[in-house]
Amino acid sequence: MQTEDDRSRFTFQTETGWFDLIRSDWETRTAHLRHRQLRILEIGSFEGCSTTWILDNLMAHPDSLMTAVDTFQGGMEHQQDSHHPSDPPVDRYQLSTLKDRFDRNVAKCKEVAKLRVIQARSDQALLKLRQDGSQFDFIYVDASHTAIDVLHDAVMCWHMLDQGGTLVFDDYTWRGFIEDCYNPRIAIRAFVKCARPEVECTETESQLWVKRVPNCVAATPNPDPALYYWDKGLAKRSV
Ligand SMILES: C[S@@+](CC[C@H](N)C(=O)[O-])C[C@H]1O[C@@H](n2cnc3c(N)ncnc32)[C@H](O)[C@@H]1O
Repeated sequence: MQTEDDRSRFTFQTETGWFDLIRSDWETRTAHLRHRQLRILEIGSFEGCSTTWILDNLMAHPDSLMTAVDTFQGGMEHQQDSHHPSDPPVDRYQLSTLKDRFDRNVAKCKEVAKLRVIQARSDQALLKLRQDGSQFDFIYVDASHTAIDVLHDAVMCWHMLDQGGTLVFDDYTWRGFIEDCYNPRIAIRAFVKCARPEVECTETESQLWVKRVPNCVAATPNPDPALYYWDKGLAKRSV
């Protein structure tokens, strides 16, 4: 008989069951959340590897709800068939059937009725969620890996994260592209720097966990009017 612990009931392409690699870390880090009433947002679900784990493990409370946002078209890193232009096309990620695979996987979860799926780009979906006044306790950011998109997702999610809530960034250490602007890291670091007074960060093997804490940095007025504006020398030194 299959149980909620049995992941073999899902079908993931071997190389895309990414979440299974970090599952044991999540088991420890989310242990305190298990039976609480939770509003969870996931941006980037792919075949549902992370979605199914969250449904099976964090949705036990009868009033918990999960929202998953994905275009189901893959990200920039899924568009290329291989890393070498001379390789034959292989359609590694079979994007045309991605949404079906996601649907089939989440349908096997007992708590699937608590899942709302929004098939849209994250910038559009997050704007709508914010306009609707949505708030969340736990948010997993794993959609577009392009820095400008991650920065936008991070800021929008921050505005919808309750005090004491947790924001998890996947692929903090990922470098799928040579140029920094196509990887999440610089965006996550910029976001953390801006939200500094209210963040408590924990870096894991490949992720950054950010807890929203009460503001712990008071604003100090600049005592020297001569230093109100960056002069060119100062600006250069601070970049
Ligand atoms: C790395 S995968 C998510 C993996 C999933 N969290 C897991 O652990 O199995 C990234 C997903 O983000 C989606 N995606 C990429 N860019 C997006 C965007 N701008 N808005 C919404 N979804 C996007 C892709 O379709 C893809 O399914």
